[in-house]
Amino acid sequence: MDWLAKNDEPVINVDKLTYAGNLDTLSSLKDDPRHVFVRGDIGDCALVGTLLAEHRPRAVINFAAESHVDRSIHGPGDFIQTNVVGTFNLLEAVRAYWNALEGEAKTAFRFLHVSTDEVYGTLSASDAPFSETNRYEPNSPYSASKAASDHLVRARHHTYGLPVLTTNCSNNYGPYHFPEKLIPLVILNALAGKPLPIYGDGQQIRDWLYVKDHCSAIRTVLAQGRPVKHIMLAAGTKKPIWMWCTPFATSSDTLRPKADGTGYAEQITYVQDRPRP
Ligand SMILES: NC(=O)c1ccc[n+]([C@@H]2O[C@H](COP(=O)([O-])OP(=O)(O)OC[C@H]3O[C@@H](n4cnc5c(N)ncnc54)[C@H](O)[C@@H]3O)[C@@H](O)[C@H]2O)c1
Repeated sequence: MDWLAKNDEPVINVDKLTYAGNLDTLSSLKDDPRHVFVRGDIGDCALVGTLLAEHRPRAVINFAAESHVDRSIHGPGDFIQTNVVGTFNLLEAVRAYWNALEGEAKTAFRFLHVSTDEVYGTLSASDAPFSETNRYEPNSPYSASKAASDHLVRARHHTYGLPVLTTNCSNNYGPYHFPEKLIPLVILNALAGKPLPIYGDGQQIRDWLYVKDHCSAIRTVLAQGRPVKHIMLAAGTKKPIWMWCTPFATSSDTLRPKADGTGYAEQITYVQDRPRP
């Protein structure tokens, strides 16, 4: 939506519509000829190859992933399948397409892989923010699968010359955020009178970037990034997780005051931290 609000270049949107996908979020584009929605798997080489041959894009941006850390702890298989095998198959299809391009179309083509800063591990309060030169230290099955996909993308460039870019972004928030993620979960639980869960002591450091700023950064990287570059995207708002949750609770006090006069922050509950390797 953000892309088409800014320019008229068409978008072919391939999405498997897993539990995390929701076609209703695209309802405003239903009659927009610039948007083609295809329900499909990035790991389906034949489908992706057919779409590439038909639409002849100048770039492929890979947003598709299994992305929820807690789910990756309970069932990592889907993360390997989509984030590692899926990205590998997508790269295979894209390389075949790119190989057949010629001249300016070949030079200008880009494969932009959307990744996460979690491949760099975890930050403590005294650490400097992550940078592109940090060592990869993924700590969850999710971040390990994203790290593997980043390496596959990088190798496509070094081995085969495919012009790739990788962005490593901090946490996003914004419209249509799936309710299992922390910020919508805190708001919804607050309003439902449920506990607002914070893992461990709540001191884990997080940066949150507004999703439209993330999209804007991706457009800039696509337009200006030089192939093989890793680009960190963050808002520069590094804070412990409890400091993120409390304002959502207290602003709900103003927006939707509780009948009994108590504050939503009283619902904050510290729960056992996730397993750490
Ligand atoms: N949300 C964040 O805070 C955040 C932060 C940094 C990086 N990222 C990265 O940004 C990307 C998008 O994140 P998100 O929060 O929108 O994720 P999400 O889990 O909310 O949505 C993922 C989307 O990918 C689709 N999908 C899943 N498997 C697929 C497959 N095999 N083929 C095609 N489509 C598939 C789902 O249907 C869904 O629409 C991911 O690559 C994620 O790793 C997200």
